[in-house]
Amino acid sequence: MKIDSVIQNMPYTYLCDDPFLQRLDTLGYARSNLTGVGIESASALVHDSPYLLSLTDQRIQLAAQAKGAGNPVVVDFSCGAIGFRGSQNVRQELLVKAVLGRDKRAAMSVLDMTGGLGRDSYILACAGCKVTTTERNPVVYLLLADGLYRASLDSELMSIVGNISLLFGDARLSAEKVCSYDAVYLDPMFPERSKSALVKKEMRVFRDVVGTDADVNELFTYALEVATKKVVVKRPRKSSYVMDKKPTYSVEGRSSRFDVYQRG
Ligand SMILES: C[S@@+](CC[C@H](N)C(=O)[O-])C[C@H]1O[C@@H](n2cnc3c(N)ncnc32)[C@H](O)[C@@H]1O
Repeated sequence: MKIDSVIQNMPYTYLCDDPFLQRLDTLGYARSNLTGVGIESASALVHDSPYLLSLTDQRIQLAAQAKGAGNPVVVDFSCGAIGFRGSQNVRQELLVKAVLGRDKRAAMSVLDMTGGLGRDSYILACAGCKVTTTERNPVVYLLLADGLYRASLDSELMSIVGNISLLFGDARLSAEKVCSYDAVYLDPMFPERSKSALVKKEMRVFRDVVGTDADVNELFTYALEVATKKVVVKRPRKSSYVMDKKPTYSVEGRSSRFDVYQRG
């Protein structure tokens, strides 16, 4: 299968001090995946480089260098909104309603083709799903791999993240190695997904790293082939259907919508 490269090269610097390199080793992550400029100490930081990737406070983070740019992007399942959501009744999550529906089987297998910062994979794992997550962007993959690693050392989170297998690369290639899934989930990047100021800051960084997922139609077509029960696509609430294909039904929230395509 030919997969066109749609990964955007964003300008970033990474601080390759010993702790950072050791963490890459621990994660089994090849440094050659990082296309940014490596520097050995923060004093060598080039100020026109908009983003710095580093190991800070034992967490790999991506920080925008501009003043007022907001918090660094980091994956941490132990705190913040995602930690809170995971500790609540996840059956009430729209994503879980869309993916599990009335199926109360605990071990539903899900392929999350668009891993991102892993929030949706985490919620699904909290709901008892076995999740295979793919992420093709090397920086986003690293942030997520690091978040999963730290969670795997946390006695309260280890059993949850034990249900998530993370694969690096395009979902269409990685998923082929793993056969079939009950459900396939897609949450691609679309232009201008939200107007909220809070989301905007984080999204701005994320968008610079990832760009938009221009090949969503191909991904959706592939998802329909590999899902045995359903494909679920997350969309902004008022937007059109992917490839204009009407879903079997949708689960709607205030800003997002989950379109469910029943397969079997
Ligand atoms: C909007 S984000 C997903 C956010 C995620 N649902 C979460 O909860 O954090 C989309 C992500 O999907 C990734 N992606 C898009 N197409 C992909 C593909 N074909 N294979 C692997 N990853 C893909 C992008 O690199 C990006 O990180």
